[in-house]
Amino acid sequence: MSWRSALLRSVNGVIGAAGWQLQPRSFDFDDRLESPTHLAAMHGAMAAQIAPWLERQTLFVAKPLPDLTAEIATFYAAFLDSPFRRQLGESRYNNCLWLHLLARSIEPDLIIDSGTYTGASSWALSRGAPAAKVASFDIDLSNLKLRLPTVTYVEADWTTFDLAPYAGKKILVYFDDHVDQARRLLEARARGIPLAIFDDDFTLGAFPAMAHDGAALPKVEFVLDETLRDGDEIVWRNRGQLARWRIDRGYLDRARAAVRATERVPSTSLVTGIHQTPYRIVSLHHDG
Ligand SMILES: C[S@@+](CC[C@H](N)C(=O)[O-])C[C@H]1O[C@@H](n2cnc3c(N)ncnc32)[C@H](O)[C@@H]1O
Repeated sequence: MSWRSALLRSVNGVIGAAGWQLQPRSFDFDDRLESPTHLAAMHGAMAAQIAPWLERQTLFVAKPLPDLTAEIATFYAAFLDSPFRRQLGESRYNNCLWLHLLARSIEPDLIIDSGTYTGASSWALSRGAPAAKVASFDIDLSNLKLRLPTVTYVEADWTTFDLAPYAGKKILVYFDDHVDQARRLLEARARGIPLAIFDDDFTLGAFPAMAHDGAALPKVEFVLDETLRDGDEIVWRNRGQLARWRIDRGYLDRARAAVRATERVPSTSLVTGIHQTPYRIVSLHHDG
């Protein structure tokens, strides 16, 4: 055992009693393929997952992306050079790639990025749609790592943004903000947004570690789950403490009514070994 591992073990032995542990700092692709042929095979495998899904899309009009493997290879190189490889809450490689390709394929005029944090999602979205206006919102912009001249960063909720100048334009919204996703569906519908991407749409079994004291509930998964009964409590344990969320079926149903059609993107975790919950894409009904 190296002296580093021995030191880590003994420190963890001491602080473990308080429920903490130190881990070596890690970044996406610290350990990665280097042989060009096999790296190209990884990009090809990614393209093989993504291309058929984009080609059969009915949630949005998808522009064909010729030579997807080359596009992915270029994005991979840019990601390696980016400041977004740390694994502490920002979007990781697979999701950043999806944002880039979705933006490329959808070609929106305006992209709203709700939940800026270090700026990874706005970076990926604006790379994918360089001609689009990108507005990125967070209630705390102090973690921003890279301020792009092509992105407008706003320290506020997205509902403060005036959409009137974009009437009739193609708008795409990305929600990655730890906010109740039923509320986001209702806001998006009321504001005439046709298409939204949701991160962190965890299933009933997977949400407890990411419930943010219940503020991030309900998920779109709950909205779509007709087995959830009005008045029942969902009870979970978080860091030893019990937490509860009471089901309001009427609220879930109102949010459900905003959804015209929805599906998740395919999981690409097996290709890169980076595990993230696949995005949910929602096509919304319009009011009026
Ligand atoms: C998971 S991080 C976002 C990660 C980022 N999209 C990325 O790709 O790396 C969630 C962020 O949502 C922010 N947030 C919380 N409430 C918000 C709100 N009402 N509007 C926008 N952002 C909010 C938090 O401050 C936090 O920075």
